[in-house]
Amino acid sequence: MTSPTNAHAAKGSSKPRILTGDTPTGMLHLGHWVGSVKRRVQLQSTHDCYFILANMHAFTTRVEKSTDIRRDCIEIVRDYLAMGIDPEVSTIFLQSEIPAIAELTFLFAMLLPFNRVMRNPTLKTEIELKGLGENYSFGFPLYAVGQTADILAFRPVGVPVGEDQVPHLELTREVARRFDQIFCGVDPQTEDDDYVKHGGALPIPRADVGKVGRLVGTDGKNKMSKSLNNAIFISDSPKDVEKKVKAIFTGRQSPTEPGDVTNALFQYVEAFIDDEARVAELKSRYAAGDNLGDGHVKLEVAASLNKLLDPMRERRKAYEGKDDVILDILKKGSQRANDLAEETLALVKEKANLITYPRVVRYV
Ligand code: TRP
Repeated sequence: MTSPTNAHAAKGSSKPRILTGDTPTGMLHLGHWVGSVKRRVQLQSTHDCYFILANMHAFTTRVEKSTDIRRDCIEIVRDYLAMGIDPEVSTIFLQSEIPAIAELTFLFAMLLPFNRVMRNPTLKTEIELKGLGENYSFGFPLYAVGQTADILAFRPVGVPVGEDQVPHLELTREVARRFDQIFCGVDPQTEDDDYVKHGGALPIPRADVGKVGRLVGTDGKNKMSKSLNNAIFISDSPKDVEKKVKAIFTGRQSPTEPGDVTNALFQYVEAFIDDEARVAELKSRYAAGDNLGDGHVKLEVAASLNKLLDPMRERRKAYEGKDDVILDILKKGSQRANDLAEETLALVKEKANLITYPRVVRYV
């Protein structure tokens, strides 16, 4: 008789696998939609999708806010479901429920020079933006290593993300290459796509950046972000959406002034008005100062946004007050995620010459 392992439970899917996710920091907004979630919804039909809620990462800067983090996890799932992620098709799971991720983080931390982690530009930007100074926790930079484990535990081919996550993907690719070189004897000259073919245990995943990698906020300056107060949320009412769109700053004085079609307002036109002929017409009239006021363009943008958000509002309503349903989706997803992550961990331990015994992670 063979010993039980999660590997036996990992459901085989012939579709290529992707993994991505979010740190639960509050409700999702349009930046999340254009940067990543829209793509995820499309990928569901062609890929085996894993979506991680990086709740331990939220602890790296908000350890005193654990009740908020718990609530944010549930709200994010509600937003995912509203946006069209189907929990029957995709696996939505909690980072903190996957022991293999914590174990891989420790091992992978040995594959990266400390200085290399600290050179990660996304970490540097975060330290600045969040005003962390020099007093951030040890766990804060460790989250970048943790993210390599979030990803590699699932051996995905691709990671759909916004532009800001690309440095994390670079780090992940470095970890995978190092692991395969040190423990699987893969030649460092090997092309990234050939690592597995040449005996590597971990494929080198690529970053899959969406068309609009970065959506400017309604302040017209910074990336859309909850903490900067410039976000339009998936759960905003039609009225709120109109109000926020009206407030988009352009600095233009009159409808006859030639307008800048790269301004914040036109980034929304490009991102959210589907009719390409209409977009072209708006752009040419705006650029020419052909009596096309900002107010008019804003009305069209708000209408398009509400058309996009209406079905999401409907779906969201179906899960309002249904935390038990959401917790159950997370439990099922985390079980599926464990089945796969345990399989990776067993393989990694074997390759790393660790003495190890078969085990199962199974919820009761
Ligand atoms: N760092 C990501 C963010 O803040 C969230 C995240 C954690 C993630 N682990 C991941 C994204 C793995 C993609 C893959 O948005």
